[in-house]
Order: sequence, then C-alpha cells, then structure tokens
Amino acid sequence: MEERAEHVPVLVDEVRSLLDPARGGMFVDGTVGLGGHARMLLEGGADRLIGLDRDRDALAVARGTLAGFGDRVELVHADYRSLDEVLDARGIAHVAGILLDLGVSSMQLDQPGRGFSFRRDEPLDMRMDRSRGETAAERLATVEEAELADVIYQFGEERKSRRVARAIVEARRASPVETTGQLAAIVRRAVGGPWQRIDPATRTFQALRIWVNAELDGLESCIGRAVERLQPAGEAAGGRMAVIAFHSLEDRIVKHAFRAMAQGDRRAVRLLTKRPVVAGDEEVAANPRARSAKLRAVERL
Ligand SMILES: C[S@@+](CC[C@H](N)C(=O)[O-])C[C@H]1O[C@@H](n2cnc3c(N)ncnc32)[C@H](O)[C@@H]1O
Repeated sequence: MEERAEHVPVLVDEVRSLLDPARGGMFVDGTVGLGGHARMLLEGGADRLIGLDRDRDALAVARGTLAGFGDRVELVHADYRSLDEVLDARGIAHVAGILLDLGVSSMQLDQPGRGFSFRRDEPLDMRMDRSRGETAAERLATVEEAELADVIYQFGEERKSRRVARAIVEARRASPVETTGQLAAIVRRAVGGPWQRIDPATRTFQALRIWVNAELDGLESCIGRAVERLQPAGEAAGGRMAVIAFHSLEDRIVKHAFRAMAQGDRRAVRLLTKRPVVAGDEEVAANPRARSAKLRAVERL
C-alpha cells in the first residue's frame, strides 16, 4: 500500500456538499485525525466544531491545523463511541452535523514506530491509542490458533487464514513474533505463490489492526446513537451525518445502520446517498488512500 506522507483528506468536496456546513451550527468530527475535514467544515461555515480522536499524536497535529480557528474548536482525546458522554459533559443535546472518517490516517501508517505498516521493520504495536490496551505483538503471543484464523478470515478476508494462523503459531514456538518485518515474512511464506496486485501480507495486517483496535465493535449501535444526537428537522433542516468507510466490512455495517433507520413507520432519517459516493479517477491518482473510500450520509427527519 503506497501512502503519501502529506495527509490529504478524502472526498472533501463530497463531504462538504453532503454535510453542508454553510448552514452553520455545531459540528462533530469523531475522527478528527490531522484536521483536514475539520478545517473544511470550519472554513465552510460551521460555527463550532468538537474533534475527537483516540490517537494523541493525531490530536497534536490537528491542534496545529486548526489553530487559526481559536475557540471555535475543541479537541478531545476520546473514542467516538463515547460521543454521548462528550456531548452530555458539555450540555449539548443536538448538533448540526457529524462526520466519521474511519480507519487509519496516513500519519499512523507513515510515522515510524507505530507498527501499522510492513514497509519498515519495527515493533508490532498497531494501537491507535497507545495509552491503553495490548499491542499486536502481545496479542499474537497468546492468542489461540483457531481464534487467530477467525480474525484473519473475518477482518482480513484472507482465504488462506488457517494456513497463516498456523504459520504464526509455529513461528512463535521458536521465537516471539515481535516486529512487522517478522510477521510480513511469515505471512508471505504461508500465503505463497506469485504476488498479484498487493503484497499478501496486506490482508493479515488489516485484520490484526482491526482486531487490536476493536474497530468494528459497536460501530452499528454507535451510528444509531449518533443519529439521535442530530438536530431533528423543525424550523431548520435536520442535522446530517456522513461516514467514510475504507473496506467492505465497515461499509456493510454503515449501509445497514443507515438503511434500518431510514425505513418503517418510525423512520429517523432520510438517505442522502442511495449508493455510496466514491472518489473519481483524478482524486485516486492524486491520493491512493481515496481508492477504497466509500461515503454515505443521512439527514435527520
Ligand atoms: C482516516 S483518519 C481521519 C482523517 C481526518 N478526516 C483528516 O481529515 O485528517 C482516522 C482517524 O480516526 C481515528 N480513530 C479511529 N478509530 C477511532 C475511534 N474509535 N475513536 C476516535 N478516533 C478514532 C484514528 O486515530 C485516525 O486518526
């Protein structure tokens, strides 16, 4: 996976037109990252913005990106799954817009020592929030082979998951699997065969990252709760929520969550995107991260 060191937010024009910050009001960026989308929302007319991220290094960069907006911005070290607590603590009932740009940032992939990428040999950490939880290396030291195979199959969509899990468990008998380089070599050997478009280690690295960060846990219910926080339609238009997913598992969850809320007698939202919005060729050529991005959005009724 080739990533650029400079972070370019994906689908930025599309997010602007769907979230429509020109209507003003309070916005939440639940994955503020390096602050690219947040800056667009503030420049586009959002009155205030709360940015959450569970990576303190990302927040430090966002603080720089958004410094010019002064007290219109508040950055909080938090998981977006605790959005209710963050808003309750500030006495905020409803907001005009919520954005989730899921997954890892280019900085997390590029920053040495994070252990997300096999382009460098370094400790296998992979935690977005380095203040808590087990690293990928710690998890690999104790996980049962069958569970590991399930993780690699489910989160990596790796057809040879059993073979990869067995190879990891066999390798750790000889010595602990502690670096990205070791893991990539084990996986490549286990998958075998000529490489197709992507390095065969990519799928297993994605799987372990999702597992270590529990990325899909509670995503669906979190989207439901976030929608409850959108301004209901009344005199003004209803609040809007946009989510950008980067792989099919994530997008499926977002799609189901939004569709379920857009149906039935007690429907809470209308879909602003019948199909996911994807990046055009030009954006993909300029920013490879955009290649797999899928954007969906709803408006509160
Ligand atoms: C794709 S980047 C966001 C980039 C951002 N939109 C920008 O313009 O710079 C995803 C960010 O979400 C953060 N993140 C992932 N899962 C999170 C969670 N559950 N809670 C809070 N932040 C999370 C990551 O740490 C990362 O910084």
